[in-house]
Amino acid sequence: MLSSVERRIEQFVASLEEPEIAESIAKIPAGKRLRARLMIEIAGSGQSVIDTAAIIEMIHAASLLHDDVIDDAFTRRGVASINALYGNKSAIMIGDILYSKAFYELVDIDRFVAKVVSNAVVQLSIGERKDVAMSEHFSVDREAYITMIYQKTAALIEAASEAAAILAGKDREIYRTYGRNLGIAFQMIDDILDIVSDSQTLGKPALNDFVEGKTTLPYIYLYQELESDEKEQLKAMHRRQLSKSEQEWILAKLSEHKVIERAKKEAFSLIEEAIELMQKAGEKGLEAIAVKMVDRSF
Ligand code: FPP
Ligand code: MG
Repeated sequence: MLSSVERRIEQFVASLEEPEIAESIAKIPAGKRLRARLMIEIAGSGQSVIDTAAIIEMIHAASLLHDDVIDDAFTRRGVASINALYGNKSAIMIGDILYSKAFYELVDIDRFVAKVVSNAVVQLSIGERKDVAMSEHFSVDREAYITMIYQKTAALIEAASEAAAILAGKDREIYRTYGRNLGIAFQMIDDILDIVSDSQTLGKPALNDFVEGKTTLPYIYLYQELESDEKEQLKAMHRRQLSKSEQEWILAKLSEHKVIERAKKEAFSLIEEAIELMQKAGEKGLEAIAVKMVDRSF
């Protein structure tokens, strides 16, 4: 049960015997706990599953604390981010504490689980580095984008699924693939939502990713479709505050070339593959989680 995971995280944090730190950690919003949900669905709620789910959620939370510093993000899940509340230095250190405590607890679980999870953390750190590096230049290499989002986002979801399969004595490869597909699709959809969902302040998409230099899948496909003078026009707008007319130009071109549909289709086909795998395995709960991801606020 998810509430057992919440309680376990609280216990892990309380065992540090640092009330001030525990108070700051309590300000981190829980989120959807996707990784923990998948694990419980795959492996049930025995103690080692709950422990590993709590560990993975702590690692995930630590990575977001660092990510918000890197991205200069002042909100997370609709509330003030930890860096906004306590400053960058504290956010980094609280992330370090969560992250190292998680690893301290991981050692006691299982050697194979520890390997899978620690490898995923290496991957997500490399993925984050690539995300930042790629945003410094106008990058429209689809393969590089897919690899980066796999490492940054899917690796930990994949590891959560695989770790649960190990603990449950199930086929590692099937659950690994399920987690990877879901993870890549999740990030693709997140990147599409940056373009299609209205920002609260503007009432229309703010195209934040593009302003930050992130050329996500729709921009990669758009670039392929544009005429050569338009390609230059798009490049010239990269990583800059956009004027109203520039924003409208980008949105019109995205719509003209139907690239949002193309990107959505790509995400959906990964989810479809995950659903089929779970249908074959008779995993109704996991099938339902994948189905739910498709209609995530579109
Ligand atoms: C969110 O991406 C970022 C990640 C999924 C990974 C972040 C990883 C690190 C900072 C490496 C450090 C790792 C540890 C364990 C301390 P995003 O910015 O595209 O998504 P967002 O919109 O949710 O911010
Ligand atoms: Mg971010």
